[in-house]
Amino acid sequence: MSSLAPLDASKVQITKTTTPKAKLPKEELVFGQSFTDHMLTIEWTAEKGWDTPQIKPYGTLNLDPSSCVFHYAFELFEGMKAYRDANGGIRLFRPDMNIARMNASAERICLPEFDSEELIKLLAEFVKTDSSFIPAGDGYSLYLRPTMIGTDAGLGVSSPGKALLFVIASPVGPYYSTGFKAVRLEATSYATRAWPGGCGNRKLGANYAPCIKPQRQAASRGYQQNLWLFGEEDYITEVGTMNLFFVFNKDGKKELVTAPLDGTILEGVTRDSILALARSRLPTDEWTISERKLTMTEVAERYHKGELVEAFGSGTAAVVSPIKEILYKGEDIMVPCVNGESGNLTDQVWKWLGDIQYGREEHEWSFKI
Ligand SMILES: Cc1ncc(COP(=O)(O)O)c(C=O)c1O
Repeated sequence: MSSLAPLDASKVQITKTTTPKAKLPKEELVFGQSFTDHMLTIEWTAEKGWDTPQIKPYGTLNLDPSSCVFHYAFELFEGMKAYRDANGGIRLFRPDMNIARMNASAERICLPEFDSEELIKLLAEFVKTDSSFIPAGDGYSLYLRPTMIGTDAGLGVSSPGKALLFVIASPVGPYYSTGFKAVRLEATSYATRAWPGGCGNRKLGANYAPCIKPQRQAASRGYQQNLWLFGEEDYITEVGTMNLFFVFNKDGKKELVTAPLDGTILEGVTRDSILALARSRLPTDEWTISERKLTMTEVAERYHKGELVEAFGSGTAAVVSPIKEILYKGEDIMVPCVNGESGNLTDQVWKWLGDIQYGREEHEWSFKI
């Protein structure tokens, strides 16, 4: 039997700050720019396993410059939110999915795995400790950033023998403070985000840094994000840091399409939730819900035939992000936005998810703290 200590939430030690921060007025919150009073940290070593979890004052980390995170990118992260509901209660949204994905990311880069339920208990304790930072109101939330890094000192390239799991939290305001703003995309085939056999389906920091340069190039041409294509066929994969959905209508029969989880797509919690809600709530005689390969050529063809109805990205930060235009092979494909800056399904999905996240509708996905 292994003598390694498992992650154990019951052992958590809480040290409260003696210098609480002044809270910003919620209208002044900028995504990821201000943080709460505390952080959760848990150290791990290959010899002993998981150490005592600590909730302690937010502060800098002290790491040896040779730590493997700085040289070989032993880093993974998650993004999730805590919401304040209309009764003042606190809720997470499907934390089991984020934490399962975190373990899958850890497994991919030889960082230690852990008991998901224990980490969810610790997250709940941490959120309770800093609950006064959760802004109230529709669109407001506390963004949680669970992270794990390899901390071994030394330049050998091998699996980490030391790691640090930490969670920080940032109060955030609505992504769209004045209603949806549909975005313009540049379909990018000169740079590739992920490839078969790679690690695009894991939330590793190393997947993100190389995406900034193509995004800046698209921005310099007036497009907010890249639509990442793959292969000679120009398969549609993701948009920026979101999953991507298209709606087509052929002779009155509608299809909601997103790329299948083939290893090149991040397994988005929002994506999974939209598929499940669409399957259970949209009338089956009108709608087909598809996870299938889709090429940019098909989108262009169906646009020319008048079959393209709407398109949107999905992710924790924005929930849904409507798309109004896609540049592909020199042509701007104009995506209809029948409600001005969004389409009907985009609006519907936004409402469905918001109602569950803010507890206006009781649902098994809402995790009360
Ligand atoms: C590359 C990428 N795709 C998709 C998503 C959306 O995932 P989720 O819905 O879990 O936020 C994210 C954000 O986490 C992402 O970074």
